[in-house]
This record gives sequence, C-alpha cells and structure tokens, in this order.
Amino acid sequence: MQRNIAFVGAGDRQVEQLLRARGLTVQPWADRDFTARAQQASASVDIVLLDLREQLSLPAGLDAFHRQHPSVPILLLVSSLDPTLMLNAMRAGVHECLQDPVTAEELDAALGRIAASRDSGPIGDVFAFLGAKGGVGTTTAAVNVATELAQLRKGSVLLVDLHLAYGDAAIYLAAEPRFSVADALENTHRLDAAFLKSLCVKTKAGPDLLASPDRALGLLVDAGRVRALIDAAARHYRYVVLDLCRTDPAVLDGLDPAKKILVIANQELATVRGASRMAGTLNKRYGKDRVVLVISRYDPNAGIGQEDIERVVGSKIRHLLPSDYRVALEALNTGRPLALSNQTRLAGALKMLARELVELPGHDRSPKSSRSIFGRMTGRP
Ligand SMILES: Nc1ncnc2c1ncn2[C@@H]1O[C@H](COP(=O)(O)OP(=O)(O)OP(=O)(O)O)[C@@H](O)[C@H]1O
Ligand SMILES: [Mg+2]
Repeated sequence: MQRNIAFVGAGDRQVEQLLRARGLTVQPWADRDFTARAQQASASVDIVLLDLREQLSLPAGLDAFHRQHPSVPILLLVSSLDPTLMLNAMRAGVHECLQDPVTAEELDAALGRIAASRDSGPIGDVFAFLGAKGGVGTTTAAVNVATELAQLRKGSVLLVDLHLAYGDAAIYLAAEPRFSVADALENTHRLDAAFLKSLCVKTKAGPDLLASPDRALGLLVDAGRVRALIDAAARHYRYVVLDLCRTDPAVLDGLDPAKKILVIANQELATVRGASRMAGTLNKRYGKDRVVLVISRYDPNAGIGQEDIERVVGSKIRHLLPSDYRVALEALNTGRPLALSNQTRLAGALKMLARELVELPGHDRSPKSSRSIFGRMTGRP
C-alpha cells in the first residue's frame, strides 16, 4: 500500500479527507508544473493525484515525470471524461482517472487496481553479483552462472550487465549487442516483453544478454528506475542474473527484487576489508539471508584463509571458485563460458554455484582452517 500521496492542484479539503481516511499521508503540491520534479533523482512520494477539474490539458513535464519515476502511479481527478484528454493522459502514463464527485468506493477501487498491478509483479528469480573490488572475477561468475542456468532453462535466462559504462559481459559471451541497459533505463515506462526482448541479444552460450552501454545515458538513473528494469526482467524471464557495478549507488539501492546478492571476494587484504563493509551494508539493507559470500580465485595455500575471511566479513563462505587463470582467460578470449564444458575444477565449481542458487543438488562446501591474520584485515590492533 502506498503511504505518501502528492495532491497536485489548488487543494480540496473534502478530497484530502477521503485520502487521509485511507491511511495516506497527503502532500499538497501547489505547483502544477512537473518539469522540475522530472529532473529529481527521487519522486519523494509513492503516488500522485492530479486535480484537473478546472482545466482540460495535462501539465507541463508530466510525461517526463513518469519516465523519470515510472514506479510512481499517477491518478487524474477530472470533471468530465474528455476523449482527447483521456488519450493524452494514457500516452503520458496516467494509471487511473477519477470523475468528480469522487466517492470513497471509487477511490478504493482505483487504489486497489494500482496495488494489484504492482503485486502481480515478478515471477523469475533474480541473482545479483557484486564484486568486493574490481577484477575479482565477478563477471566471470555472473556469465557462467547465467550460462549454466540457460542449460537448465533454455530461452528463459537473462544476464543484465548493469555497469552503466564499461561493462564487459558481452565480450565474455562473444555477443555484439545493438542496444543496452541505457535503452532499457531510459524507457522503463514501456518495458513489456516485446520491447525488452528487442533490446537483448541472444548469445551462443544460451542466456539472453542486456549489455552495458557504449554511450552516455540521457538521464539521471535512480534506484526506482533500476528496480523497474529488474522487475520487468523478472516478469519475463525465469532467471535473471545481474552483473553489478559496486560504485553505482542507484544500482545498489535498487536490488529489492533480488533473491540472492552474491558478494564476490578473493584472498587479498583490501578486497576482504571491502567485502566486510559491503556485506555489512547489504545485510542491513536486504537481510543477511539474502547475502551470499563467494571467494573467487581461491588458493588453499594463500596467506589469508577461509576462517580469516569469515571472521572479518562476519558471514560463512558459501562457495569457493578455484584459481585457474589460464582456463579463465582462455574462456574470456574465446567468448566461450567455462560452464559449457565440465573439464576443469573451475568449470565444475561455477556450475555447482548456479545449481545451488536454484536449489538443485550438488554444491561444494568444505571450509578448512587457516592461519589467522584477522587483526590486519579488520584494521584493529
Ligand atoms: N577463478 C579464477 N581464477 C583465475 N582467474 C580468474 C578467475 N576468475 C576470473 N579470472 C580472471 O580474472 C580477470 C578478471 O575477471 P572478471 O572480469 O570476471 O573480474 P571482474 O570482477 O568482473 O572485473 P571488473 O571489476 O573489471 O568488472 C580475467 O582475466 C579473468 O579471466
Ligand atoms: Mg566485471
């Protein structure tokens, strides 16, 4: 249920009372012009009611506002159902029209329809991959998990490269995308199945790919927009794998739909400390049971061992991906993910990671003790 409603127009005590009686907090917006609000990163309300009883045209910037904040439903209050106004309202993304005088029943029905359209939401599982530091093997893990899942569910897996610049998932999959997440994020208001599919490229390895852009985005991306994209992806694909950029706050704030968020770390001091901070933030924001710690490029003889990492990060390591640079690099250079074969330990571990995420049997967990350098990693004496 939405909590904050913007009531746009001159104000009407009777209507305001109706809204408050429904548990909504009313924020009066006297200024009808939406142009400035369309530029803001956050809409600051959950729903907008626009009073158009005294005019027959939509306010400036309404369609831009809807494009910037696609998850905020817009209701119109009109004195008559003028056909031209209705058509323009539909085009601008208005969800519902209420005719004056509005009754409690009509208002309840409209709010109910909005809530229902939200609840009909995602059906697919979303797995988000986030590196504790650059170069730890996040894209390798995301690409291979998506590839393995695509073997299990052909045609129903999407890999989204959510780097808003310089993502390289397309290279790992030898794909040549024409469109990218930029097109999707700029058009979240029209992300139906056909449009989403038209932006993706089918890869030889199996998953569809929505690639990272090679151009600047034409707008400010906020968490609402990222979330709208992930929701749309999960409505149309059984499994959605996200390759995330750890330095983009809008991306990190839009992960509500994710079933699991995999933090990828390795055995380097700086990375382990980064993983500790990152896991702490994600645990608080999304809940500890959704955050999964994975060690990539794992070397059993390294100075920093599993127990050290677990103590610093405060979570159990759920998966170890062995270090095998030659094999990983060859897969990258040939654009053929390791999960397509089962000939190396690294390929086996990546496939098992995918299978465990979708709760199929066969995953590797064998924590062993190791030399402690806890103090150095936490930075505490
Ligand atoms: N398990 C592994 N063992 C050895 N090398 C690996 C392993 N996984 C990945 N690599 C290699 O490490 C390099 C970086 O991998 P990758 O691109 O997956 O990392 P990333 O965390 O996504 O990097 P970036 O921060 O640039 O996005 C690549 O050369 C890759 O082949
Ligand atoms: Mg990467």
